[in-house]
Amino acid sequence: MLAKRKDLVSYIEWGKNFECYRRISEDILDSDAIAYNTLYGLLNMKGKLILDFGCFQGDSSFRILISTKPSLVVGVDIDYKSIKEAEKKYHKYKKLVFYSIGEGQAIPLAIHDNKFDVALMTFVHPTISKIKALEECFFSISQVLKKNGILALLSLNSKSFNKGYSFYNYNHRLPACGYFKDGKKFWNTLRKSNGDTISFFDFCWENSTLKKLLLSSGFSDVSYIDLKFPNSLRINSLLTKSFRKVYEERGIDFSNRDEFKAPLYQIILAMK
Ligand SMILES: C[S@@+](CC[C@H](N)C(=O)[O-])C[C@H]1O[C@@H](n2cnc3c(N)ncnc32)[C@H](O)[C@@H]1O
Repeated sequence: MLAKRKDLVSYIEWGKNFECYRRISEDILDSDAIAYNTLYGLLNMKGKLILDFGCFQGDSSFRILISTKPSLVVGVDIDYKSIKEAEKKYHKYKKLVFYSIGEGQAIPLAIHDNKFDVALMTFVHPTISKIKALEECFFSISQVLKKNGILALLSLNSKSFNKGYSFYNYNHRLPACGYFKDGKKFWNTLRKSNGDTISFFDFCWENSTLKKLLLSSGFSDVSYIDLKFPNSLRINSLLTKSFRKVYEERGIDFSNRDEFKAPLYQIILAMK
């Protein structure tokens, strides 16, 4: 079941995006913030033990901590240097623990033998280029999840690709072959809040492939959620006000964005 070194090229190849991702991560995109919050809203994480798989430099683990009040968040990543960075950045937070997991290394259980209630892979599976490596991730997560525990995957949604939609933060293109196909690279141009743009690539994984891998890795139930911006964002809420302010300050018509029409993001929930 364990991936060989060559199957982990995914990460090494993705490593070329490293510098670019560091810059994105420091300045979380407005629309990503909405996607993270929607995901957290779907899961019951208060007081629970949470695994943040592919935590990079710990920002996503920190976001989970402050947004959901879990008992502990364990962030793991294959990149040793990122984990060292995460430890340095968040050393004051006793409810955040970070581990690097190398080739074939099992995910550590942080408290005695307690398994995790919830595992998150946010923007992780599209950074993996090899099916073996992807399967190994799902398998190793299922080994440390409680029975009935949930694994949630958040990513961009293939339904939002190349359909003439115009998103404020994202401008993504289909792979060169013209359609969303397992293992093919797609490109993204991101617009940050200061107006700078950054380009990077990710890998396509079809829903049927993800489902097959999840089912063969110990998960019993898989469901998909297409995530458009919810209409509730148009009405009064704290999030609405800050979100609206950001768009209005930049002179963007908030009411008619494609983010409300097309599912820019996708959530996949799998139960063990
Ligand atoms: C795009 S970043 C996402 C970071 C974070 N989850 C977030 O929401 O901002 C993807 C991360 O997944 C990690 N990753 C990729 N393949 C992995 C694997 N096989 N095992 C563990 N981490 C992996 C990468 O090192 C990288 O830090």
